[in-house]
Amino acid sequence: MPTTQSRYHEVYARWRSDPEGFWAEAAREIDWIRPAETIFDPKAGVYGAWFTGALCNTCYNAVDRHVKDRGDQAAIIYDSPVTGTKRRISYAELQDEVATLAAMLEEMGVAKGDRVVIYMPMIPEAVVGMLACARIGAIHSVVFGGFASKELATRIDDARPKLILSASCGIEGARVIPYKPLLDEAIALSATKPDSCLVFQRSQCEASLVEGRDRDWAAEAAKARSVGRKAECVPVAATDPLYVLYTSGTTGKPRGVVRDNGGYMVALKWTMSNFFGVEPGEVFWAASDVGWVVGHSYIVYAPLLHGCTAILYEGKPVGTPDAGAYWRVISDHGVVTLFTAPTAFRAIKKEDPNAELLKGYDLSSFRALFLAGERADPDTLQWAENILNVPVIDHWWQTETGWPVAGNPLGLGALPVKHGSPTVPMPGYILDVLDEGGKPVGPNTMGSIVIKLPLPPGCLPTLWEAEERFKESYLSTYPGYYNTSDAGYLDEDGYVWVMGRTDDIINVAGHRLSTGGMEEVLASHPAVAECAVIGIKDQLKGEVPCGFVVLKSGVRTEPAEIEKELVALVREKIGPVAAFKLALTVARLPKTRSGKILRGTMKKIADGDQWATPATIDDPIILEEIGEVLRGRGLAR
Ligand code: COA
Ligand code: AMP
Repeated sequence: MPTTQSRYHEVYARWRSDPEGFWAEAAREIDWIRPAETIFDPKAGVYGAWFTGALCNTCYNAVDRHVKDRGDQAAIIYDSPVTGTKRRISYAELQDEVATLAAMLEEMGVAKGDRVVIYMPMIPEAVVGMLACARIGAIHSVVFGGFASKELATRIDDARPKLILSASCGIEGARVIPYKPLLDEAIALSATKPDSCLVFQRSQCEASLVEGRDRDWAAEAAKARSVGRKAECVPVAATDPLYVLYTSGTTGKPRGVVRDNGGYMVALKWTMSNFFGVEPGEVFWAASDVGWVVGHSYIVYAPLLHGCTAILYEGKPVGTPDAGAYWRVISDHGVVTLFTAPTAFRAIKKEDPNAELLKGYDLSSFRALFLAGERADPDTLQWAENILNVPVIDHWWQTETGWPVAGNPLGLGALPVKHGSPTVPMPGYILDVLDEGGKPVGPNTMGSIVIKLPLPPGCLPTLWEAEERFKESYLSTYPGYYNTSDAGYLDEDGYVWVMGRTDDIINVAGHRLSTGGMEEVLASHPAVAECAVIGIKDQLKGEVPCGFVVLKSGVRTEPAEIEKELVALVREKIGPVAAFKLALTVARLPKTRSGKILRGTMKKIADGDQWATPATIDDPIILEEIGEVLRGRGLAR
C-alpha cells in the first residue's frame, strides 16, 4: 500500500552519491570464488564493465550454496495443468539433476564458452538445461517455442551452438505441438550445424531421432547416473557471458543480447528483497516463459539466487482449464508474489469480469501483483487492484536491461501509485527524456527515454559478436546515453510514463515483435509490390500486427487468396507468436513526397485516434482510401 515511509529516496540518493560503494555492498550477497579487483572499470568493454577480475559461478549461487541450509526446500514447483502434472524439486534434487546434465554436456564435448541452444517448452528440464550450462560456463541461448523454424535457424546461425537441447513437443492448451520437426527443419536451413541434439521425449508425442546426431535425454541421463557422473561448477569471469537471448530489433535479424555472470547475479539478488519485497524461502511466481527475459530473470535466476521456491507453470491464464487458473496456483502453492504481463489479466477479466472464480480459493499468502512486458493500462490495473486487494505494481524494463529500470519498490516501501506510470527509476538508472536534437525536455513533455551511461550491473554489455551493431543500435543516437527506443515523459514528481516505442517494434500480448521483420516476409511473396506493417490496438493483446499490401500489376490471383497466403507465410516464417492475422490489400500506400510510408498516420486511422494530414504528404486521398479499407473490415471507426 502507498506509504510515506518508503526508503526509496534515501536508497536512490545513496546509490547516486557512490555507485561503486552501493554495488560493492550488494555484491556481498553473492559467493565469489575470487572477489572483484575493480567494482567498475570504465576502460573495459564498450561503456565499462562491472566486477572485473572476479571469478564466480552462477549455478553455484543459484543452486549449490542453498543445499546445506535449504536442501529439502522446494527450489522449483512444476505445475502443468496441460498435462495434469505437479512436481516438486528440492534444492538437493535440483543440484543432482543439474550436475548430472552438466556432466552429460561435457561428455558430449561442450566446454566453457561454447553455446548451447535450448528450444524447449515450460518443463523442468528446460531450467535444468539452463543451469547445467551455467555450471560448466557454457553460454545458453533459449529460443521461445512459438517461433518457427526460420527464426530458430537465424538464431542457430548467429550463436553457432555446439549442442541443442530440445523436447519432443510443447503443449498449447489442448494442442500438442511437435517441436522436433521444427528443430530438424531449422537445422536443415542453418549454415552451422550443431554436433548433437539432446532430445527430451514427452509422453504426449514421440520424436524420431536422427542417427548419429540426436540422443535421447533419458537414456543418456540413465547412463550418466549408472556411473555416478556429475560435473563440478567451473569458475568463470564475472564478465564472461552467461547467456545470449535474442530479441526483436528493427530488421528481421534479431539482436543477440549478451548477459554476463557477475553483474547479473548482483542486480537480480538486489531486486528480490528491495524491489519485490520477497524473502528467501518464500514462493515466487513469474507466469511467463523461459524463452523470454522475464523467464530468464524471474522464473529461473533471481528466485533461485535468493533461495526462494520458483513456480514453473505450463499453462495459460485462461482455458487451462478456466480463468481461475492463476488463483488456483497461488492457493495451491502459497505464492506470495505473482509477476505477469497485463495481457494475462485482460484475458482473465474478459472471461470472468466479476472474478467469480476467485471466491473458491484461499489467497491469504498473496501479497503483491507485479505487471510488466507492456504498458499496464489503468483499467486493467484498477480491476486487478479491486479484485485482489493487494498492491498492483507496474514496472518497466527490457530484454536488454535484464531487470527493472523503473518500478515501485515494494521492498523499500511503496511510493504513492499513479495509474499508468511505472513509478520511478531504480538505483543504477538515471533517466532523461530527450528531444530529436538530443536536448533534455522539461517535465511532462514527450520525448525519447534514455538511460545515462554507464548502464548498471546486469544490463547488456554488448550484442553477441556484434559490438558495432550494439553501439549503432543503442549508443550512437544520443552520445553518453543508452537509447531505450521507448517514448514517454517524466512528470514533476520524477515518475516516468512509458507510452510507446520510437522504432518499429510492437508489443503483442507482451511479446516483442519487429514489424520490419514481418514486412520482409510479406515483401518476399511474389505478388507483393510493396507493403507496410503496423501495430493496431487490440482489447486483449494490447496490439496486433496489421499488414497493408499493394499487389503487383498483372497479378491474377484474387486478393483474398493472396491475403490468406500472406497470413500463412508469416506464421511459417516467423511463427504463431507473431499473431499475424490481418493482411489487407490496398491500391496505394500513403507516403511523404520523399517516399516515406506514413505508418504513424495509418496507425492513428486504424486505432480511431485523432489524426491530421501530414504537411509533407504526397497525395492526401490515399489516407481516405486506407480508412475505407479498414472500415470495410470493421476495423477503423
Ligand atoms: N509454442 C508454440 N506455440 C505457441 C507458444 C509456444 N510456446 N506460445 C504461444 N504460441 C502460439 C499460440 O498457441 C497462438 O497460436 P494460434 O494463433 O494458433 O492460436 C499464438 O502463438 C499466439 O500466442 P499468444 O499471443 O500468446 O495468444 P494466445 O491466444 O495463445 O493467448 C493470452 C493469449 C493473453 C492468454 C496469452 O498471450 C498469455 O498468456 N500471455 C501472457 C503474456 C506473457 O507470458 N508474456 C511474456 C512476457 S512477460
Ligand atoms: P522486452 O524486451 O520483450 O521485455 O520488451 C521491452 C519493451 O516492452 C519495452 O521497451 C517497452 O516498449 C515495453 N514494456 C515493457 N514493460 C513495460 C511497462 N511496464 N510499461 C510500458 N512499456 C513496457
